[in-house]
Amino acid sequence: MDPPKHSFYRKLVGGLFTPKRAGLWTDSIGDTVRAILDEACELGGIPRGDGVRLDRWTEITHSAPDVVSDDERFAAMRDITGYAAQVRAEKLANPADDLASRLVAAEIDGQRLTEQEFASFFLLLLNAGGGTTRNLIGGATATLLRRPEQLAWLREDLDGRMPAAVEELLRFHSPVIYIRRTATEDTRLGDAEIKAGDKLGLYYGAANRDPAAFDSPDELRLGRAPNEHFAFGGGGPHFCLGSHFGRIEITAMMTQMLARFPDLELTGEPTWLASHFISGPTDVPVRFTPSAPLGSG
Ligand code: HEM
Repeated sequence: MDPPKHSFYRKLVGGLFTPKRAGLWTDSIGDTVRAILDEACELGGIPRGDGVRLDRWTEITHSAPDVVSDDERFAAMRDITGYAAQVRAEKLANPADDLASRLVAAEIDGQRLTEQEFASFFLLLLNAGGGTTRNLIGGATATLLRRPEQLAWLREDLDGRMPAAVEELLRFHSPVIYIRRTATEDTRLGDAEIKAGDKLGLYYGAANRDPAAFDSPDELRLGRAPNEHFAFGGGGPHFCLGSHFGRIEITAMMTQMLARFPDLELTGEPTWLASHFISGPTDVPVRFTPSAPLGSG
């Protein structure tokens, strides 16, 4: 477009694009960029906005048969598998520096994961990584809000005390209730004879409340040391793959939440997930005064 038509349009909008007017948007642009970068850099390479849907599916797959029918459970698994197939297609077409792209492209002995294998892996990571961490954070929040003295102690030095507190909250809550293993040989555990082929339910919460291993195991002591808990398993080849990520996620969320919402309080009873596999609340009703978004100050 040329003048004079062009000049008309320039004049029309020019006032909105001066350095001064543009400068007013600096904070807002910063926030948007941060959000986009957060989204683009996320570990899994899954859009953040899909998180709620993925969490809901995870919750359904973890729920006990008396609250979720088999049909509903299989539908959720189908949804996750369908979602995984889309992620795989997307990452094959547009690989990025994220876990999903790496999983799609990874080769061992010249073999890549098939679509089916990728979907199973996706389901595993979603369940193992999402359900556990989210339930721990929900349960830990309710636990802390019910113990004002311990919470005040933690708030005195959030960064310094949070790492030990996270370990104690993991021990206290043990979000993975049990995992079943099959004995590969005859053995004895305490007074129990175990035969090769026997199925064993390993109850992590029971190990974490063992009075032979922990002083006053039913008490929450945020500064507990030592604290060799079993929330991530007892060692060995299946020890939680994501323990480091889990710790980082829980620490970041608990620290930011407590720092930004100083008046956070419970307004009712949490609703507990009806599951024999994962322990944690589906809802924790709270009230707080919202603080300014990060990056706007
Ligand atoms: C509060 C957080 C978490 C808890 C309490 C937890 C707990 C556990 C437990 C108890 C096991 C079984 C260990 C065993 O049988 O020896 C396990 C396995 C596993 N976890 Fe976690 N986990 C957490 C977070 C995560 C995260 C964030 C990820 C991934 C991003 C993850 C991925 C896995 C995987 C893939 C396995 C299976 C490992 C294998 O069989 O080789 N977990 N987790």
